[in-house]
Amino acid sequence: MNISIVGSGYVGLVTGACLAELGNRVLCVDSDLTKTAGLKKGIIPIYEPGLKELIAQNVSKKRLRFGSSIEEAAKVSEIIFIAVGTPSMDNGEADLTGIENVARNIALHMDGYRLIVEKSTVPVETGSWVKHTISTYIKKKTHFDVASNPEFLREGSAISDFMHPDRIVVGVESIKAANILKSLYKPLNAPIVVTNIKSAELIKHASNAFLATKISFINAISRICDKVGADVLEVAEGMGLDRRIGREFLNAGLGYGGSCFPKDLDAFISIAEKIGYSFDLLKSVRHINAEQRAFVLKKIKDVLWIIKDKTIAVLGLAFKPDTDDIRNAPSLGLIRMLEAEGAALKIYDPQVSSKARDALKGVRVCKDPYEAARGADCLVVVTEWNEFKELDFAKVKKLLKRPLVVDCRNIYDPAAMKKMGFTYVGVGRGL
Ligand code: UDX
Repeated sequence: MNISIVGSGYVGLVTGACLAELGNRVLCVDSDLTKTAGLKKGIIPIYEPGLKELIAQNVSKKRLRFGSSIEEAAKVSEIIFIAVGTPSMDNGEADLTGIENVARNIALHMDGYRLIVEKSTVPVETGSWVKHTISTYIKKKTHFDVASNPEFLREGSAISDFMHPDRIVVGVESIKAANILKSLYKPLNAPIVVTNIKSAELIKHASNAFLATKISFINAISRICDKVGADVLEVAEGMGLDRRIGREFLNAGLGYGGSCFPKDLDAFISIAEKIGYSFDLLKSVRHINAEQRAFVLKKIKDVLWIIKDKTIAVLGLAFKPDTDDIRNAPSLGLIRMLEAEGAALKIYDPQVSSKARDALKGVRVCKDPYEAARGADCLVVVTEWNEFKELDFAKVKKLLKRPLVVDCRNIYDPAAMKKMGFTYVGVGRGL
C-alpha cells in the first residue's frame, strides 16, 4: 500500500520503518527541515535499538523515503497516519494544534479517497474534530474516512512491540476503513480489536492510565515494605503469579517518567474533569509518582546524613534503559533535589544525548560508571541499564570513598551486596 506518516518523531519513524518492512511504500514527512535533511542522509534523531538499520534497509529497497510536504503526502497515499506531537499545556490538557494543522493541510490537498488515521495519543472525541476539520477545509469534494489506531510502543523495544503486538486497536466508522486497516496489519498475525473511534481513543488512555496505576500501586506497597521489613520484589512476585494481576509493571523504583505516562495521565484527568468527572484514582496515582523521588532522597539522606558537600555518583539518566530519552526522566527530579541539598554530582549514562548535556549544565558527565564512582561518597543507581547489572563491585568498592549503594531500581541482591561489604539500600526491600 502507499502510506504517508506525518510527523517523524518517535512513533512516526518506528511506524514508518516497520510498515515499510512489511512491504508497503512509505513516505515520512515532517515540517522540521533539518530533521528531514538528516533523515535523508541516514541521521536518525532518536536512539532506538534496531531503528537505524531498519530505516537504512528499507530506504535502500526504495520502500521508505522522507520529505517535508504534506501536500505530497495527501496526494500520493491512500492511508495517511497522523503521528505529530500532542504536548501537555500548562493545565494538563493535550495541545492539539499540530493535529488540527495536519488535518487542515490534508483536506486542502487530497484529491481522492483517503483514510486519515490518528496514531498520536489524543483525547477522546479528537477523531470527530479531525473529521469535522477535513469536511470544513476539503477543496476537491471526495470521499474520506477517519480512523483511530493508537500505538502501544515502548521506547527501547518499539520495533519488536510493533512487529509482535498483543493486540491492534482499530477505531473506524466504515467497513471500508476497517478492511483497509485489517489488510495492512494482516502480516502481523495479531488479534485486531475493531471498534468505534471514541472507544479506540479511550482504549489508549485507559491502558496507559492502568499501567501507571500498577506502578504507583507497587510503589505505595514499597513504602509499607520498608516500614515493616518485607521485600517488595517478593510481594510483586507473589501477586504477579495470579494471572488476573500479572507480574509486569509491578517494579517499584523511582516512579514512571518518559514522554507518555506523565503526559497521558494529565490529559486523561483533564478530559474527565471537562466532562464533569473527578478522576481521583488517577490523581492519587500521579501524586504517589511525584512523591517517590522525595522518598528516595530521604533514603539517601538516611545513609549519608548530610548531603551538602558530598559527592554522589548517579548511574543512569534516561527515563528507562535502552533509550537516550530524558523527557520527564525521574533522574532529573532526583538530580535537582540532590543539587539543591548541596551535593556535587558525577553522572554516567550509556546514552547521553546533547539534549541531556544541555539539561545537566554544571554536572560532571563521566565516561564510564567507574569514573563516576571514583571518590564518591555514595553510588545511586537510577536507571536499570544491563551494563549496571554487571558492574565489577570489587572495583567499585575500591573507588568509592564509602561503600554506600542506593539502588533505586532494585537490580542488586541485598544479601550479595552486604556480603561484599556494601551498605545497600533498595526501594521497598525492608532496608
Ligand atoms: C509507554 C507504554 O508502555 C506504551 O504502551 C505507550 O504506547 C507509550 O508509553 P514507554 O513510556 O516507552 O511506553 O515505557 P514503559 O516501558 O511503559 O515505561 C514507562 C515508565 O514506567 C518508565 O519510566 C519505567 O521506568 C517505569 N516503570 C515501568 C516502572 O517504574 N515500573 C514498572 O514496573 C514498569
